[in-house]
Amino acid sequence: MKKHTIISLFFAAAFAISAQAQTVIGTKNTTLVLDTKTGGDLGIAYYGAALDDVQSVFDAGFRSHRAYAPFGQHSAVDYTIAVTHPDGNKTLVLPIVDVKEEAWEGGKIVTVTTKDPVYPVVVKNFFKSYEQQDLIETWAEIGNDGKKPLTLGRYFSGSLPFRGGDVWISTLYGTWANEGRVNTEPLTRGYKVIKNTDGTRNSHTAHAEAMISLDGKPAENSGRVIGVALEWGGDYELRFKSNDDDYNMFYAGICDENSEYILEKGERFTTPALAYTYSAQGLSGVSRNFHNWGRKYRLAHGDKERKVLLNSWEGVYFDINEPGMDQMMGDIASMGGELFVMDDGWFGDKYPRLTDNSSLGDWIVDRNKLPHGIGWLVEHATQHGIKFGIWIEPEMTNNPSELYEAHPDWVLGTPNRPNDYGRGGTQLVLDMCNPAVQDFVVDVVDKIMTENPQIDYIKWDANMPVQSRHSKYLKHQGHLEVEYWRGFAKACDRIRAKYPDITIQCCASGGGRANWGVLPWFDEFWVSDNTDALQRVYMQWGTSYFFPAIAMASHISATPNHTVFRTTALKYRIDVAMSGRLGMEIQPKNMTEEEKTLCRNAIAQYKEIRPVVQFGDIYRLVSPYDNKGIASMMYVSEEKDKAVFYWWKLENMYDSHFPRVCMAGLDPCKQYRVKELNRVDLQPLKFEGKVFDGLFLMQNGLEIPYSNEVEYHKKNDWSSRVLYLEEVK
Ligand code: DGJ
Repeated sequence: MKKHTIISLFFAAAFAISAQAQTVIGTKNTTLVLDTKTGGDLGIAYYGAALDDVQSVFDAGFRSHRAYAPFGQHSAVDYTIAVTHPDGNKTLVLPIVDVKEEAWEGGKIVTVTTKDPVYPVVVKNFFKSYEQQDLIETWAEIGNDGKKPLTLGRYFSGSLPFRGGDVWISTLYGTWANEGRVNTEPLTRGYKVIKNTDGTRNSHTAHAEAMISLDGKPAENSGRVIGVALEWGGDYELRFKSNDDDYNMFYAGICDENSEYILEKGERFTTPALAYTYSAQGLSGVSRNFHNWGRKYRLAHGDKERKVLLNSWEGVYFDINEPGMDQMMGDIASMGGELFVMDDGWFGDKYPRLTDNSSLGDWIVDRNKLPHGIGWLVEHATQHGIKFGIWIEPEMTNNPSELYEAHPDWVLGTPNRPNDYGRGGTQLVLDMCNPAVQDFVVDVVDKIMTENPQIDYIKWDANMPVQSRHSKYLKHQGHLEVEYWRGFAKACDRIRAKYPDITIQCCASGGGRANWGVLPWFDEFWVSDNTDALQRVYMQWGTSYFFPAIAMASHISATPNHTVFRTTALKYRIDVAMSGRLGMEIQPKNMTEEEKTLCRNAIAQYKEIRPVVQFGDIYRLVSPYDNKGIASMMYVSEEKDKAVFYWWKLENMYDSHFPRVCMAGLDPCKQYRVKELNRVDLQPLKFEGKVFDGLFLMQNGLEIPYSNEVEYHKKNDWSSRVLYLEEVK
């Protein structure tokens, strides 16, 4: 805090001395130096650890790079913006005409206005600092001050130069049921492009976030790392380019392929923000910055604990009925759960939703399945002492559905070609560009909530990409991608304005919507349809690079697992699920009393550690991707008085040898008592109840037994531990 004050005073002074040349943006531990000389190009001269003396950057000979390079006049370099003027000219030049700084409660906003001296194009670049979270957002506003429309061929959010060397990048890739996988590679010469063109979901196959490690192969808790995240739910492109001059460039923005945008006279186009953060504490340091920023500024209700829930999907799939729902509600209540979510299959009148090939759009209760309606379920949930939640997929419809019969023009697709169907062979995407569709989507939520104001939670699903890239509503088809998301945002804004308090999960065939673009309206996302605990270790690991545990829905499910058919021990499934937002996705009536007791105890213990898991600082320790046979991580409370440590065995071979895991993030001078959670072993661990100082735990760690020592007939090849550390004063 003190250091920060000194730095801020210095920046004020530095700005006064060289206001014409530089603008300095400081956060607690980082500095961004912009070249902002009037008449010159907007440049980034430095981004990294906080500087005491900005002049050093120039004295040391660091080179500045354009922050928002236009295409055409200097087209030997890559660019963030490209326009075609009404006369067909494609060149753009953007000298700075004005620089403005203003304070906001969390930092400051710098606005750099640039203007083409020949053509009436004005671009404002914004830089917003979040001082305490060490994060900076940048975005652009592109304006057409001319009398005729012009065409935007590229409209990225921004770029960031970083020094070459032994630079590595870590990005997330995957597919349905395998989201959030980490790919780590050295950055080599040329281009590396990460992009997504799904249309409705954007994080199954690749993610709009990345880590750039500047000190060689990335480490979790050491080394300089820049983290980047594009705050956008739609198609995107991240580009890494190695320059010829020892510097690399990173560019990010909406994917502009086949998405030229006609900017009407007087119109302003605002890009999504690109967020970046820097840490010298390795990948986990960057994750902590994203998590802190996200919880405070970007995630719906990032400061509120999430409830432990049971979701009906893997338990009963479409087999929804009153006694079944009531039984599940009773069961989760008896295990200490706080919420029940009725998933897909509850709706449809003329076309009841019996499987995935009909009824989306017909958000009326199926009276054959639920004769007394939703109200009866809500009442019963209340009687069980829990809350009630419901599944919807409001952006979609099926043919057949009553909605489609009434509004065939509301779906995306060309009028002169057959529909291109998705899930179930009948699914279609509604045209969110159309305001009538936006009204409909708002009404779906409004109707459910008006009829049942006690509903606490909505699971908002999206199970189909945009397959047919045509809107019957839009004049310019190149706008589809942007207008879909503007329509989605408008609908979400209206829903949140009326229902600010409900919890809403974004789900998209699993983890298709894990991005900072949508999270302001959503409290959490479903990490994956794959609930297999072993594969979840890998997926949740990657996802945690950018997203906090409070947002990562992680459920205990049945075995054999419904996706990979692996049989894992219940304790293992619990121990993995407990590292995220704990829930269950199982038919409790198929569980034994012993299994229910294990879950009941786990839920009680999760409630105890919930503040640490959901609000604590993440320290990943041993990566599952490093093939050491185990994975381990921990959360530490802000005050460093509590911590939760996880250890999961990933392979089981006789005569295996695993590393002893050194902890991280503790206070070296504090004393911590160790307590095992979810214990199944016949004997307590050797260190159960013992007190260790933080330094010892961080330098040495604890000797974790490789197996769970249970009765002979219960032995299995899974092993995991969760330890709770509490400060002893
Ligand atoms: C996909 C989701 O990821 C699942 O959890 C479930 O809600 C199904 N859709 C329902 O159709």
